[in-house]
Parts: sequence; C-alpha cells; structure tokens
Amino acid sequence: MLRIGLLTSGGDCQALNATMRGVVKGLSANVDELEVYGFMNGYKGLIYGDYRLLTSRDFSGILTKGGTILGSSRQPFKLMREPDENGLDKVKAMKDNYRKLKLDCLVILGGNGTQKTANLLSEEGLNIIHLPKTIDNDIWGTDMTFGFYSAVNIATEAIDCIHTTAASHNRVFIVEIMGHKVGWLTLYAGIAGGADIILIPEIPYKINSVIEAINHRTEEGKGFTVIAVAEGAISAEDAKLSKKQLAKKIEARKNPSVAFDLADQILKKTGTEVRVTIPGHTQRGGSPCPYDRVLSTRLGVAAAELIMKGEYGCMVAIVNNKTKKVPLKDCAGKLKTIQPDDQFVHEAKMMGISFGD
Ligand code: F6P
Repeated sequence: MLRIGLLTSGGDCQALNATMRGVVKGLSANVDELEVYGFMNGYKGLIYGDYRLLTSRDFSGILTKGGTILGSSRQPFKLMREPDENGLDKVKAMKDNYRKLKLDCLVILGGNGTQKTANLLSEEGLNIIHLPKTIDNDIWGTDMTFGFYSAVNIATEAIDCIHTTAASHNRVFIVEIMGHKVGWLTLYAGIAGGADIILIPEIPYKINSVIEAINHRTEEGKGFTVIAVAEGAISAEDAKLSKKQLAKKIEARKNPSVAFDLADQILKKTGTEVRVTIPGHTQRGGSPCPYDRVLSTRLGVAAAELIMKGEYGCMVAIVNNKTKKVPLKDCAGKLKTIQPDDQFVHEAKMMGISFGD
C-alpha cells in the first residue's frame, strides 16, 4: 500500500488540478494499492489535520479546471517556527499529522514561500516532493513553472484589447501586470502584446526616460502608447531606498499602485490623457492553457515516478524540455529574476521597446 498526501499552497493558478491529476493518474496506473490524502487549504490543513481521503473520481474531469480542488492559503514561511495563537507548535503538528496517516510521501504544489516550508519539512525528516507552481515563473532551478503561460495568455489578451481602444483615442494606456518581485509575466505579455514600454522590478525606470519614449512615439506620428508595468516596478530613485524606507513610502502612497503613480506623472509632464487597466487576479483564473496542461501532466507523472523509486527531498523541474529532479536544499530560498543584460531584454530593446532605463 502506497500512501501519499497532496497540498496546494500560496496564490493559486490555473494548472494546480491538472498537476495533481498527473501525479495521481501516474501512480494509480502503476501501483497496486494507493491511498491519497488531500490536505485542505494549504499548510493549514496539514497543521490542523484537515484532510480528506480522495478517490480516483476526485481526479477525473479536472484537467481543464482552474483553481484547486483542495483550496489554498498563504502561510508565511517566516512564521512556521512560531507557535500559533493557541501555542501550537506548527512544525510538530505537521509532522504528527503526516505520521498519523503513515504517509510515504507528501507532494506539495506551490511557489517560492511554499518551497521554503517544503524544504523545512524535508530537513525535519519527511519525504517531500515539491512541484513548481506560479504565474510569476520565478522559481530557481526550473525553466518554467505551471500557471505561467496561462497567465501570459490572459495578460496578453488584456494588452491586445487595450491596443485597439488606445489607438482610437490617442491616449497613453498603462496595463499593470502581476509580479511584485520579478517581471517575467510583464516581459512576456509585453512583448506578445506589442507594448511600447515595459517596466519591470529588475530594471528600475527613470520617469524622464518613460516620457522621452512617449514623446518619441508622438514625434513619429503615433498618437498612442501602451505601457506594460509590473506591479512591483520601481523608479531608479526608489530603488536607492532601504527596504524599510521603501515600505514606508509605499504605505504613504496616495494611489493604489505604481500604475497610478506613473499615470499622474505622465499626465503632469505631457498633458496627454492616461488610462490605467489592471487585469489583476483574472491572470490567475480560468482554465489552464494547453501548454500548461502538458507541462503539468509531465511534472505530475515525473513526481509519480520519483515516488515509486522512493526519491524524495526534491523539486520536479523542467530543464531544456526534460523533467529533472532538483534537490530542495539547492533551490529553496532562491529567486529566478530577469537579468538586465538578458538576451530577452536585449531583443526587446532592439525592437525599440523602452524599459525606461
Ligand atoms: O505569486 C503569485 C501572485 O499572483 C503574484 O504575481 C501577485 O503579486 C500575488 O500573487 C498576489 O497575491 P494575493 O493573491 O495574495 O493578492
């Protein structure tokens, strides 16, 4: 009898269900007896013993279903070693629940924070496999995370829709795309949607360079400009502040986000009408795109194979189109960011796209 646990933690994305289906179908087709326990709402379910015994029926018809059948929540890694409000030792509780169910392995689907806790549990002696989920594609050690391409599709569609209205009205349009720490989603959607200016956290922008790029388009007779800005984009001025000073400045911001700050500055400096669009959480919603369905299925099956071989303590990555196991101790706590001299950025600049630098 093989007993596995599954949990999905952190912000959701489109292909969580498709990935769990890959794991369970990969196992049930190849092992005689299988029990699958689903922990509800991320690590919360593992801490407080909120779980369900799942059957193969739970994994049918979910390939195309967005969200997660298990629910999710954010349980910050930095608080994991701190007792909860009732004094409960969360790490001990997670280990106890794992042992109570006599699990052979716990498969954890999540992003960077989730991965750090997965590594902690692995160091505590549990058999862990992590599967890289996030629309941000910022997990170190894997070329791609599931959820990313589905989100690129949605963010690109948003920019496409803005393009036609921007052209009709001769306005500047700002589309704010998800990504607090990294700009992969903004970069891909910005290029795919033909944005004129792309602003990402890794390349601090100068407002005068942004204005120059807008004016340049006006001089060329192009009446409109589309700007793709990551929600974590930062000005060169703010990039010099300490973490604390920046947090204080953001807290005191009168606008809800960076896109509106930019809009105010552009209006003041150019007199052009500016509009802001924020697709927000729609970028994480709906059905996974075909690429993600395939990626998720491959990662899920690769996880199933590792479980059958008893190989744990790793993330299943995709590198050069091959699935690969990466030890959790090598990747946990590392972020995959865009390098300003990345080929991608260079090519975008060759196309005349401004990064405001
Ligand atoms: O990590 C995925 C992500 O969607 C980020 O791109 C975004 O900044 C964040 O989650 C939003 O988090 P929440 O769902 O907690 O608002």
